[in-house]
Amino acid sequence: MVQMASLKPVFCLGLYLSVWISTKADSTSPKAENVRWVSLDFKTILVWTTPPSSHTYTVLYSWNDNDWLESPDCIRLSESECDLTNKLESYDRSVSADIKTEPASMDYDYDQDELPHTYSPTFNPYKYSNISAVEFTVAAVDKSRVRVNITDPLTSIHKSGKQLSIRDVFRNDLKYKISYWKSGSTGKRDTISDSSIAEVPELDPGTGYCFMVAAYIPSRPRSSQYGAWSRQQCTDGDLTAELSVGAWVGVVFSLLAGTVIIITVIVVCCKQRTKHSHTSSSQHI
Ligand SMILES: *[C@@H]1O[C@H](CO)[C@@H](O)[C@H](O)[C@H]1NC(C)=O
Ligand SMILES: *[C@@H]1O[C@H](CO)[C@@H](O)[C@H](O)[C@H]1NC(C)=O
Repeated sequence: MVQMASLKPVFCLGLYLSVWISTKADSTSPKAENVRWVSLDFKTILVWTTPPSSHTYTVLYSWNDNDWLESPDCIRLSESECDLTNKLESYDRSVSADIKTEPASMDYDYDQDELPHTYSPTFNPYKYSNISAVEFTVAAVDKSRVRVNITDPLTSIHKSGKQLSIRDVFRNDLKYKISYWKSGSTGKRDTISDSSIAEVPELDPGTGYCFMVAAYIPSRPRSSQYGAWSRQQCTDGDLTAELSVGAWVGVVFSLLAGTVIIITVIVVCCKQRTKHSHTSSSQHI
């Protein structure tokens, strides 16, 4: 009797603990939160947040909300992101994803449909993948024109052993916006080029200009039409570095002519001064 009484609190504690553990287990089946797509040059990753736990996540994706497909890269993940680049490519369709939280151990069979899960927002790679800043060069064509030579950024998509550029993906949908201004001035002008090699005409001769370029996809929704803006590139104020041979001959000739004129003037002046001082000294005598 005495023994039973002393065991009672232990029993109660045990019961309490088991209840605590089972509720705890429920509340630690954390659903993915803040699910969003991050996509740059068609490298497309689904990211989410989750409280630390020993659960894993499996992501399914679907183009039509009916057929849910698995990606081998996104099964039983312990990290909270999944790279769907190879499945989504640059398709002009909306995809959605479903993130399922799985129990830490696979010891028992669980029903896929009863797992806690979170749907992602939909995402259309062709319309919303961000485009990175381009590299480009500027070279003078003549006194008032330059050629802007733009390198199309590469995407993360590979087709038959080739890494596709954004030109391969967007084809005629891809334009470039070139923004330019006189060095030291704030008045900007823009021109849009269909091709990756653009000519900017009607520049003031003998003036330095600065240029910036961004990919421009007018067929996209407004918010995602522009790629990131490039760094600026400026031409020399006098375009000296880019002068043609003919112009160089002109520069050398004017320099020579200038020197000859200055020397002549000095010589003539000196002669007259000597003559003058001679005359004045002879007069003095
Ligand atoms: C694109 O870039 C903007 C600005 O950095 C960012 O807010 C947006 O989430 C990005 N979109 C994607 C799909 O990565
Ligand atoms: C543009 O630049 C690329 C490499 O940077 C070069 O191969 C190509 O010849 C250039 N094209 C023109 C027209 O300058």
